[in-house]
Amino acid sequence: MAIISSKSGSDASGSDKAQAKAKSQADKSQADKSQAGKPQAQASTPDWGTQPAAETSQPTPAESKAPNTLLKPEAEASDLPKEPGLRPQRFQDYIGQKALKEVLDIAIKAAQSRQEPLDHLLLYGPPGLGKTTMALILATEMGVACKITTAPALERPRDIAGLLVNLNRGDVLFIDEIHRLPKVTEEILYPAMEDGRLDITIGKGQSARTRSITLQPFTLVGATTKVGALTSPLRDRFGLVQRLRFYEIDELTQIVLRTADTLTTPIDESGATEIARRARGTPRIANRLLKRVRDYVEVKASGTITQGVAAEALELFNVDPCGLDWTDRRLLSVMIENFNGGPVGLDTMAAATGEDAQTIEEVYEPYLLQIGYLQRTPRGRMATPAAWHHLGYGDQAQSAVTGEDDQLSLM
Ligand SMILES: Nc1ncnc2c1ncn2[C@@H]1O[C@H](COP(=O)(O)OP(=O)(O)OP(=O)(O)O)[C@@H](O)[C@H]1O
Ligand SMILES: [Mg+2]
Repeated sequence: MAIISSKSGSDASGSDKAQAKAKSQADKSQADKSQAGKPQAQASTPDWGTQPAAETSQPTPAESKAPNTLLKPEAEASDLPKEPGLRPQRFQDYIGQKALKEVLDIAIKAAQSRQEPLDHLLLYGPPGLGKTTMALILATEMGVACKITTAPALERPRDIAGLLVNLNRGDVLFIDEIHRLPKVTEEILYPAMEDGRLDITIGKGQSARTRSITLQPFTLVGATTKVGALTSPLRDRFGLVQRLRFYEIDELTQIVLRTADTLTTPIDESGATEIARRARGTPRIANRLLKRVRDYVEVKASGTITQGVAAEALELFNVDPCGLDWTDRRLLSVMIENFNGGPVGLDTMAAATGEDAQTIEEVYEPYLLQIGYLQRTPRGRMATPAAWHHLGYGDQAQSAVTGEDDQLSLM
């Protein structure tokens, strides 16, 4: 797969790092470019009567001058897992997200029968649910190359221009964290997405003139954890807008079993379910917990991962039976102990716990909301009675509620 630039969407801080890396790789890129794209060239060639990917994925002069997004071959890309097998490669290995798969399956088949590229697709949802994985699978299923980049790396107009002019017919351009696109890049994308046209200004001042370049039809796949932060002109240019949802325990169990198989770690179904229950509905966390349990088994126990062993290991790593970790519990207990369960504002919570407000909002809250331990109200966040009970404040939850009732009845 012709991967241009890549980063782990999982770490919120990763994008800046990716940019820094992009710069440090700039020198290297000359050498790298001759390899980037070659593996994909051997993959199934699009049946669209265009040049084979092998010829067109070679670096062009435009590519060699330009973007700091031209980084490294796939093998070095930073968001690819150390065990490449962990990321499913085909639709049938992508577990769960039934509705999403159905929609995309229809879209792919229709596009293939018309011999057209897939419509532009926006994938959104919390981190670790499989957005990047799905983008890569789409390109494989369509039999086209996938160029990966991340929005903050597209700082200058020439970064995105370089990527766009080098796309072949039908290629997938994947932009991670698309809500962080710089304004100028976003405006270049509008005509590119809608009319397949790249408008560039050459020169400055009085001698400046605009040139339009016709682009090959392509598919833009954008991924974001914050769909609300996208401007509506950009959002409206996506033909397909799909949300990924949290996974059910049986789906996560299958993911854990599949990963264990790839890692050749012996595990039984009860062990996989125990890990799945604590994985916050998220495949990335399920895989991470499995690796921690595997470490535990190798050092402290031996043999197959069973329910008992998994529970023991995860207890040690501070992951409770609902999947809450130390920070989740601290957020809830601060809310309960210091603010009588809320409502409390996000910034106040951030100050009281020492966590970053954005991290609380994007990483911790979605799951707490999902399992009904937290409520968002116009006056702030509130811990629900279920959270009081889970953290062992059961009786106080009762009295907090009745206390409020007493006050109301006195009025
Ligand atoms: N449906 C799935 N079936 C099996 N494994 C999956 C699935 N979805 C995700 N995974 C696993 O979870 C890991 C994280 O997925 P991915 O990187 O695609 O998430 P993401 O949504 O792009 O996250 P981010 O928003 O942080 O970029 C992958 O490496 C893959 O191993
Ligand atoms: Mg990602």
